[in-house]
Amino acid sequence: MTRPVKIILDCDPGHDDAVAILMAAVHPAIELKAITVVAGNQTIEKTTRNALNVASASGLCANVPVASGMTRPIVREQVTAGDIHGASGLDGPTFAPPSISLDPRHAVDLMIEILTASDGDITLVPTGPLSNVAMALRREPRIAEKIEKIVLMGGAYQLGNVTPSAEFNIYADPEAAHVVFTCGRPIVMMGLDITRKVRATPDVIARVRSLGNPQAALFSEMMEFFARVQREIYGWDGPPLHDPTTIAWLIDPGCVELRRMKVEVELRGDLCYGRTSCDFFGLEDAGGNQSAEFLTKGALARPASPNAQVAVDVDAARFWDIVYETFSLYGK
Ligand code: BDR
Ligand code: CA
Repeated sequence: MTRPVKIILDCDPGHDDAVAILMAAVHPAIELKAITVVAGNQTIEKTTRNALNVASASGLCANVPVASGMTRPIVREQVTAGDIHGASGLDGPTFAPPSISLDPRHAVDLMIEILTASDGDITLVPTGPLSNVAMALRREPRIAEKIEKIVLMGGAYQLGNVTPSAEFNIYADPEAAHVVFTCGRPIVMMGLDITRKVRATPDVIARVRSLGNPQAALFSEMMEFFARVQREIYGWDGPPLHDPTTIAWLIDPGCVELRRMKVEVELRGDLCYGRTSCDFFGLEDAGGNQSAEFLTKGALARPASPNAQVAVDVDAARFWDIVYETFSLYGK
């Protein structure tokens, strides 16, 4: 059997982050080293409380530190997603008081500590704004070489969800995303292009609920709230389960098709602020703008070659099988 992938899950729960936590906590293909929390879907107080609640509900990651991190984005004013995730950031279920207490370290310090002590075999899995990861990279640049890869949910090469151009996690801290996309480490980007294809329709929710364990019940309570909001705002027949695509890919890389391309974050535009500009057709590599002068002009560092593997398709049936099988590990 192959060794489990060691990960730090950096999240802003959030309904879909919560499912990612529940999956990462139980699946034997994943070794969860820490949960680091960032402000995003809601304020840091709320995302931290939600992370503690969900980690406690998983019951299986009691030895995994949960640390609270960046309270705000690095440059821009703060945006949250209370319209999508509710006033608490995780509206719908009610939780018993958490059995896990907050680790006293700042999430950025914890991330640096774990990476520094590692053999370079840690995968970062950010499912929220990239403020913690960017801050860690700037505070201790030597951690870059210790990051095996970054598997993140964020961005889109097609349409945005918070503006017509931008996806929430990138829009909520574009400058941090710029730091991450230029850090030189391998990046896998699960963008809206595929996460919109995995929607928790009523049959999916019923199938997981039928497992009858408390975590499956929590899944269905969360999805029922999420479904209502996503139907009202976007007209979806089921809520897109964005963040768990990262964990599903780590469990079974065959469920997502990736394509190498250059990804850059728009920091200067108004209409496109926070957009991930993805060179899907390799236009720059084909010679269009690929002069050294073009790549170095201006004050921003720019990647000279493809810097990410971007998800371009997902096998939705296989994804839902992975979710179902993972929740079945909590028992029937
Ligand atoms: C992302 O935004 C958040 O609302 C979700 O948790 C997800 O990480 C999708 O755009
Ligand atoms: Ca999230």
